[in-house]
Amino acid sequence: MDWRTKLLNPHQLARQDYKSLVTPIYRGSTVVFDEQSLIKDDWEQAEKGYSYGLYGTPTTLELAARISQIEGAKHTFIVPGGQSAIALVYFSFCKSGTHALVPHSAYGPNKSMAEGMLRGLGVEVEAYDPLIGKDISKLIRSNTSLIWCESPGSVTMEIQDIPAIVKAAHEKNIPVALDNTYAAGVLFDAFKYGVDVSIQALTKYIGGHSDLLLGSVSVRDEEAYNIVGPIYMQLGLAVSPDDCSLALRGLQTLALRLDQLEKSTLKIALWLSENNIIHEVYHPAFKSCPGHDIWKRDFTGSASVFSFTFVDNVSSKQVETFINALHIFKIGLSWGGVTSLAVVYPDLVRPNKDFGGRLVRLNIGLEAVDDLINDLELAISNIN
Ligand SMILES: Cc1ncc(COP(=O)(O)O)c(C=O)c1O
Repeated sequence: MDWRTKLLNPHQLARQDYKSLVTPIYRGSTVVFDEQSLIKDDWEQAEKGYSYGLYGTPTTLELAARISQIEGAKHTFIVPGGQSAIALVYFSFCKSGTHALVPHSAYGPNKSMAEGMLRGLGVEVEAYDPLIGKDISKLIRSNTSLIWCESPGSVTMEIQDIPAIVKAAHEKNIPVALDNTYAAGVLFDAFKYGVDVSIQALTKYIGGHSDLLLGSVSVRDEEAYNIVGPIYMQLGLAVSPDDCSLALRGLQTLALRLDQLEKSTLKIALWLSENNIIHEVYHPAFKSCPGHDIWKRDFTGSASVFSFTFVDNVSSKQVETFINALHIFKIGLSWGGVTSLAVVYPDLVRPNKDFGGRLVRLNIGLEAVDDLINDLELAISNIN
């Protein structure tokens, strides 16, 4: 063989029996077949064997299998981010002429997609009160094809009565999808409570270090698997095996991180709730959080993100002064990482509620909790 050919010779020379604790990172688009008759182009790689990197490498499928096992799903699809997980669900269950119900408190870009792209494709999208519970049955139409849930809701933290919504939906054979990112797929057992599809932005708690973007779509049964699978293939939602490897590492410390984050977050939320300048604290473990009793009934813990509002005589300008005066808390979007973050939502409104630019969302990280409290105390003193 010429040296040029040797350079491209795919045969492995090194021993392949290295038993690492770590899942190897498999890069690759092309999969090589032993003979022409074995060539296939199939998304069901976990069951039928590998055909093309787009539908998963062993690294991707290992992450998918781990998420699936933890959530108790039939199967999990790994996608490039939480937002693409949401898109995959919409494309799978909504067709032109169908009707989808989405809570007012859904993640902003989710609502933008539903009210923008989905409506543009002829889907009737209707926003509903996240606290509606069993009365969701009154909104169900003959063409309803999906009920979306997110609990707690983004920013305003409403806890939804998922069992009641599932019961009403399943009486009419309508699938329920849940954005289960807050619970990291573990603090709320989506499939035990009857949900058909559970998505996560793995970007948040599974990644856990603000250095990757990934999402998961987990399905409860064969029926949902067969609906989502072909759409997953058609959309071409490729992910990086390096990011999957980071997410697999994140899983190893998820329990420790969640435990510590819960403790620190509760302490900070309590401290804020005792301060006269704070009007309300929207943390699921606090009575002031809409749906708190449902959280107590259905969740096994709380996480690191929550919101609070300043009292009415604090102006939105003063809230901005407060945010800018923080040093340890960084100003930034997203959550679930190890760094504490703060962000104000100046234009946030919900039906019948205008927060007047006084709502702040915090993500608590792994810094020493007393340093975080001091940081908040100092920043609050700036507006007094
Ligand atoms: C509740 C929720 N779902 C989905 C997403 C989207 O995740 P990603 O940023 O990975 O697209 C986010 C991101 O902030 C989120 O907060």
